[in-house]
Amino acid sequence: MTQTRSSDINSYAEQFSSPESPILAALNRETHLKVELPQMLSGHLQGALLSMFSRMIRPRRILEIGTYTGYSAICLAQGLCDDGLLHTIDINEELADMQQRYWQEAGLAHKIIAHLGKATEIIPGINERFDLLFIDADKQGYAGYYDLVIDRVRTGGFIFADNVLYDGEVLLPASEQSKNGKAIQAFNQKISADDRVQQVLLPIRDGLLVMQKL
Ligand SMILES: C[S@@+](CC[C@H](N)C(=O)[O-])C[C@H]1O[C@@H](n2cnc3c(N)ncnc32)[C@H](O)[C@@H]1O
Repeated sequence: MTQTRSSDINSYAEQFSSPESPILAALNRETHLKVELPQMLSGHLQGALLSMFSRMIRPRRILEIGTYTGYSAICLAQGLCDDGLLHTIDINEELADMQQRYWQEAGLAHKIIAHLGKATEIIPGINERFDLLFIDADKQGYAGYYDLVIDRVRTGGFIFADNVLYDGEVLLPASEQSKNGKAIQAFNQKISADDRVQQVLLPIRDGLLVMQKL
């Protein structure tokens, strides 16, 4: 399919999915106006899917690695059960004000615990078992984050990993892949060889890998 067709399909899918809420639309807009690399934000379609999945799972504890401006945290927190909490980690301290402002506006700030620092250093200090893990930080860290958290995901729990198509680089020969593309390719291969999980790779946006721990 040509690039135009695939972006037309994306627009069509957005048009026939429930509209982005005014708060998420404002966060999406402000991120694009004021923050570097706005393409990192999950966006309307993937955000709606994360929210829908979370509302299906009704998790009690979520761990998100890679908060950015807090868009996917809102989407995931929408499915939390009454006493649910979402822990989210980011290394960038400049985004904290914006995250908190939108989490307050969404009425979810009391359910979201933001941790500032390197994920590998923060994760061991979060003493929880998780129903849902979302990996969406530095691509070369994915395999390490998975190894660090898998034993703390409950049986039947879910793990989502974003950008697993890495702008189509996974289809290129290794000699033409960037470091990140190679890391994502290795991560996808690692998961497909891991019989502790069952997985489906959804070609939505930049690729979302949905895994369930068996
Ligand atoms: C793709 S963005 C996350 C997007 C967000 N999940 C969303 O969908 O709106 C990746 C984030 O990971 C953060 N990050 C990168 N390396 C990290 C690390 N080692 N530990 C924690 N966060 C990291 C970056 O600062 C960035 O905000």
